[in-house]
This record gives sequence, C-alpha cells and structure tokens, in this order.
Amino acid sequence: MIDFDLSDEHRLLEQTVKEWAGREVAPRIKTLDREHRFDKGILPQMAGLGLLGVSVPTEYGGAGMDYVSLGIASEELEYVDTSLRVILSVHVGLNCLSLLTWGTEAQKRQYLVPQAKGEKIATFALTEPSAGSDARGIKSTAVKQGDRYVLNGEKMWISLADVCDHVLVIAWSDLEKMRARDTSGLSAFFVERSFKGFSSGTLTEKWGILAGNTGYLTFDNVEIPAGNLVGREGEGFKIAMFALDQGRYTVAAGATGLIRACRDASVKYALDRHTFGVEIGQHQLVKEMIARMEADYQSTRLLWLRSGWLKNEGRRNTRETGLAKWMATIASERAAGDAVQIHGANGYSDEYPVGRFYRNCKGAVIYEGTREIHTIMQADYLLGYRTDRPTRCELPPYRPQS
Ligand code: CAA
Repeated sequence: MIDFDLSDEHRLLEQTVKEWAGREVAPRIKTLDREHRFDKGILPQMAGLGLLGVSVPTEYGGAGMDYVSLGIASEELEYVDTSLRVILSVHVGLNCLSLLTWGTEAQKRQYLVPQAKGEKIATFALTEPSAGSDARGIKSTAVKQGDRYVLNGEKMWISLADVCDHVLVIAWSDLEKMRARDTSGLSAFFVERSFKGFSSGTLTEKWGILAGNTGYLTFDNVEIPAGNLVGREGEGFKIAMFALDQGRYTVAAGATGLIRACRDASVKYALDRHTFGVEIGQHQLVKEMIARMEADYQSTRLLWLRSGWLKNEGRRNTRETGLAKWMATIASERAAGDAVQIHGANGYSDEYPVGRFYRNCKGAVIYEGTREIHTIMQADYLLGYRTDRPTRCELPPYRPQS
C-alpha cells in the first residue's frame, strides 16, 4: 500500500522542531551567521528534544523513532539554518547510525549510548586536504602495533571538528593495499578527542554555513585500542560508503527544507514588494520562479521520503538516496539563486535571509558526493556499470519501540 500521510508521531516531531528552531534559533541566526559563531548551547537543547538520538533505538539511549523522523527533523532544521541540519548529518547520520550497524555491543554501550543521549558529540572523518571525491586517495594510516593501532594523518572539512568528543575515522591499515589503491586495505576506527596526539582546528575562510563549525583534525601517533576498530579490518571503505548513505539522506531532506525556506521567503516578498504599479507576484517571470520552487520542493520531498521508507523496511537505498541528495541539492541551489533574484537588490543584502540561503546551499552540492559524482553514479546504475551488492552489515529495519 502507498500511504502519503505522515503519522501522528511524525507530525508531532515536525511541529516540535519547527517551534523550537523558530523560537530559539531563527531570531538569532542572522547574528550568529554574521559573527561566524557556532553556538554550543544549541546542542543540549537538541539533546533535550531527543534529536541527537532521533533514529537510534531506545535500548541504546535514543528516541527510538523511525528513519523518516530523521528526515523530518533534517528538513525542519535546515528550514531555519543549514548549520542545524549539519549537526544531525554528522552526529546521527554519519556516526551514530554507522556505529549502530557496524559496532560491537561493547562499542555501542561505550559510545553510542552517550551520543544518542547527547552527552557526547560525534562526527565522521573521511575527507583529507588532498582527497575528497577520490575517497580511496586518502593518506591517513593506522598501523597495528601489538594491541593498538597507531594513527597518523590529517582530515579536512570535518563538520563539528572543534566541537566533537568522538570521531569515526577512515584510514589505511594495510600500507601495501594503500599503494595499490585497493579499498580492502582501509579500516574504520572510533577515536576520542582525549586520545594523546589528537588535535583539531576551525576553518575560518569558509563563506557559507557560517553559524556551523567546520575544521580539520590532526592525528600525531594517536594510539587507538584494538577494541576501537569498527567492523573488521579492511571494511573501512564499506563503512564510509554506508555512513554516506545515511549522511546523504539527511542532506537530501535538509536541502528540501532549504527549498521550502526559499519558496516561503519569495512568496512573502512577492506579495509585499511593488513594481510597475503592482505587487511583483503579479509578474509572470516571478510566478515562474515561485512555481519552480514549489515543484522542486514537492518532488524532492517525495524522493527523500522514499529513501526513508526504504530504510524503515531495511532495504538497500544507496541508489535512491544518492538520487535524492543529488536532486535536492541542485534544486536548492536553483531555488536560492531565484529567491535572491526575486528579492532584487534586497536579496543581495543580509537584511533578508535569502542571501544566507544562497551561501548555505552550495556546500551540499559539493560535500557528501559532488553533483558530478552523483551524476556519474546514477548513469552507471542505468548502464549496468554499478550495482549495489549486499554487505555484511545492513542498517537495522525500523521496529516500533515499546
Ligand atoms: N554501502 C556499503 N558498501 C559499499 C557501498 C555502500 N553504500 N558503496 C560501495 N560499497 C562497497 C562495494 O560493494 C565495494 O565492495 P566489494 O568490492 O567487496 O563489492 C567497495 O565498497 C568499493 O565500492 P566501489 O567499487 O563502488 O568504489 P568506487 O571506488 O567505485 O567508489 C565513488 C567511487 C562512488 C566515487 C566513491 O569514492 C564516493 O562516493 N566518493 C565521494 C566521497 C564523499 O562523498 N566524500 C564526502 C565525505 S564527507 C566528510 O568526510 C566531511 C564531513 O564533515 C562529513
């Protein structure tokens, strides 16, 4: 059966996040953005709403909601500001759900429970200064020495780099395979900020998502207990791609929220601003841009909802999630550009929010798989060059919690 209705629980979550973000963040976001300031005080509030463990089962400290709920929260958060959605993307999507799926029971007890409760903040680190799209081009190494792995390297463009307590790090554990660019030489590790040799910094040159924290991590002979290997040795690339299936889902839902924010700001302005003796909403070319935003909003929402439904059912969704992420982010770029256009010179000023939307949308067209990577992936699926093969661990299907 196809059911396009949200459940009462979904609606309640949607309303709760909308009200909280509208009340606590929206009035301050212009200032935070202008001051390039990440407000750490937002994190305990999000934890209080259960958002930092939204789709994590209650037995691991989470809210026990389904994966559609993660999408709903992402959409509502990005409606107010992209920096809020990014918190969910890295903490819940990339990190918590990866640990839930690939972690041992001991790792889940030690790390997932405090993360889902929001007592610890987590992120994910794959990208490096010289490797983004080319994920197998990373250089970080984690060489086994006795009962530890010794991690060296640098990660770049890491969301919450200066805020996180824990990081899921991808590094080469097999140096011979590294030279051969054989992904079965990559492994995943859970690293704590408190480990000796771990340091981080914030990127200050970024020109979008300015109320968010983005930075770099440096590992200088960081000793990681063997028990912090996530999955098996050699499964790091699969875990990274799995993590991205969850992260891209939140990016897709978030970009959908950004399109809605562009649409609503544009409608408001078009009814208010007058040119040539009429409100600008009367002009056909303005109508065209607003109608396009609505079409993009409604269609990208269906795409991410389908991915969320597949996740709930426990079905592989790499292809569908990639499509949702690709379509939603490029549509958000178009919507933000048109929103600025509709606002004319006012759109070019920070007096109105659309300039911030325009700066914020571009990051997601680049991170978690660029527009070009997703284009190629979708073509490759159709041409038979790419198929999604089953993996040892799959995201657990949603089971209603008692
Ligand atoms: N889940 C599980 N396993 C997967 C998988 C998935 N989604 N996708 C691929 N795999 C497995 C494959 O099955 C394969 O294993 P087998 O050979 O055993 O079957 C193995 O992984 C290799 O897969 P591919 O052959 O598909 O690998 P590829 O080299 O062709 O991938 C690519 C190329 C698609 C371009 C990939 O490199 C890619 O997605 N690049 C973009 C990386 C990206 O999005 N980076 C952003 C990171 S965000 C960040 O770090 C910053 C932050 O703050 C979050």
